[in-house]
Amino acid sequence: MDKKSIQQLFDFSGKTVVVTGGAKGIGFGIVQRFIEASANVVISDIDNEVGEKKAKDLGKKCLYVSTDVSDESQVENLVNQTVEKFKTIDVFINNAGIYPNKPVMEMTAEFWQKIQDINLKGVFLCSQKAAEVMIKQGGGVFVNIGSIDSLHPSGIGLAAYDASKHGVWGFTKNFALEMADKNIRVNAIAPGGVATEGVEESTKGGVKAGDLTNAFAQKIPMKRFGNPDEMATVALFLASDAASYMTGSLVVADGGYLLA
Ligand SMILES: NC(=O)c1ccc[n+]([C@@H]2O[C@H](COP(=O)([O-])OP(=O)(O)OC[C@H]3O[C@@H](n4cnc5c(N)ncnc54)[C@H](O)[C@@H]3O)[C@@H](O)[C@H]2O)c1
Repeated sequence: MDKKSIQQLFDFSGKTVVVTGGAKGIGFGIVQRFIEASANVVISDIDNEVGEKKAKDLGKKCLYVSTDVSDESQVENLVNQTVEKFKTIDVFINNAGIYPNKPVMEMTAEFWQKIQDINLKGVFLCSQKAAEVMIKQGGGVFVNIGSIDSLHPSGIGLAAYDASKHGVWGFTKNFALEMADKNIRVNAIAPGGVATEGVEESTKGGVKAGDLTNAFAQKIPMKRFGNPDEMATVALFLASDAASYMTGSLVVADGGYLLA
């Protein structure tokens, strides 16, 4: 096997990367790193205004496709538009996710179902449709954004979220098995607390990566939230040939939260 240089390992020239939920937060951090690594990048999101503007600002190597990942026909459209514009799908980042907080005893079936549909069914739909393209072209890589909640609850009120994120990790492992002999690797990342627009909204006031006043941050051994870019560099590694022997793995990036 040819040994690639560090530069070659992280050069995504001619490769196409799709990022769901790519308009904001961790997803947009990932988009920026893959653009820097010379990839063609597709931002897929439901926030059309933000997504379209960011894709336009990033230039002709970036395409925005409006997609609700829980809707099968919209996911098909995402895959078709990507292939039409860039020909291949080399890396697919299943990042779109929501994390509203509600105790089980106050939860409706609709609330439960919406979280499962976006966080878990969305990963299934996107993985299946993108893998059809990857199988035809002879290979590809999936990076699924799970959570520390894929392994362990981070707080009360997240039972529906935790069920969906445990599901993402379970799906990742079994799909990795199914794809292993097809030159398709499937791995996941378990972020801890990351300062994003979504966290800002859910905490009604927001957190800064270095904020020590937040109760959650105080429980993090590194005493700070992570930044989207600290997840993006892990995604870049998992998508690259630097991780060529990794499949079915979960990389925890949480400032030590699960150790405490
Ligand atoms: N921020 C954290 O602390 C943290 C921790 C662990 C895991 N995660 C996971 O990381 C992922 C991204 O989280 P974030 O904090 O960046 O969120 P965010 O809310 O800042 O960004 C999420 C993006 O996904 C989009 N989106 C929402 N529903 C969608 C749908 N149905 N289809 C397509 N796009 C949709 C939103 O419009 C938004 O642009 C999620 O899967 C989340 O569960 C986040």
